[in-house]
Amino acid sequence: TQGIRPLVAGNWKMNGSRAMAASLVAEIRTLAAAGPASVDLLVCPPFPYIPEVGGGLAGSAIALGGQDCHMAAAGAHTGDVSAAMLADLGCSHVILGHSERRADHGESSLLVAAKAKAAIDAGLTAIVCVGETEAERDAGKAENIVEKQIIESVPAGANSSNLVIAYEPVWAIGTGRTPSVADVAAMHRHIRSLVADRGPVRVLYGGSVKPANAAELMAVAEVNGALVGGASLKAADFMAIAAGA
Ligand code: G3P
Repeated sequence: TQGIRPLVAGNWKMNGSRAMAASLVAEIRTLAAAGPASVDLLVCPPFPYIPEVGGGLAGSAIALGGQDCHMAAAGAHTGDVSAAMLADLGCSHVILGHSERRADHGESSLLVAAKAKAAIDAGLTAIVCVGETEAERDAGKAENIVEKQIIESVPAGANSSNLVIAYEPVWAIGTGRTPSVADVAAMHRHIRSLVADRGPVRVLYGGSVKPANAAELMAVAEVNGALVGGASLKAADFMAIAAGA
């Protein structure tokens, strides 16, 4: 991981209930207190549960994040949430441009860049997600697609203190499939070269990270942690992944 402290982040997506969120964070906190603190931990619950989870994390070193924010600071945007609101609730991070948002909400890389700028302006760290589809990989276009996403999604002014990149191949999300270690290494090297002028930016891998494959994936040079979906909903799995990092 090239001397960069790993970050293991849980993207809970649209899962759980208030009670589940409270018990999951309590379990994570207990397990984190028992283990060595060699990685940074982050949990990103659904918006309505952020206060509950934030309360459960009070006084711990585990960070709190949102799963999206609006590009505007405030105003007439029904149903949206601003970066400042996330910061106000104690969030330090926000996931932006996840492939599910790109697909479900038609988010373009240019919109993601505007959101990332808003997040950074509000004092948050933007976790910008990129990744190719299976058809794009089969066509040999994976690196080009990701390169275009990075160039268009990362705003001016972003650097290693306020930017994290998450490489999530779309075909690996929730499928149990992962790229080969060699493919992960090649993509992360490429991403690293694209953000080299931004300082030591963390580049996370996401897509079917489980306790069984975490150590292998996290051992890849230029992989600085994981963005975990399904396995982040089980405290023991999430913390086993953190141990692997
Ligand atoms: O953001 C994390 C995610 O997309 C990966 O999901 O369920 O494959 O770990 P999962």
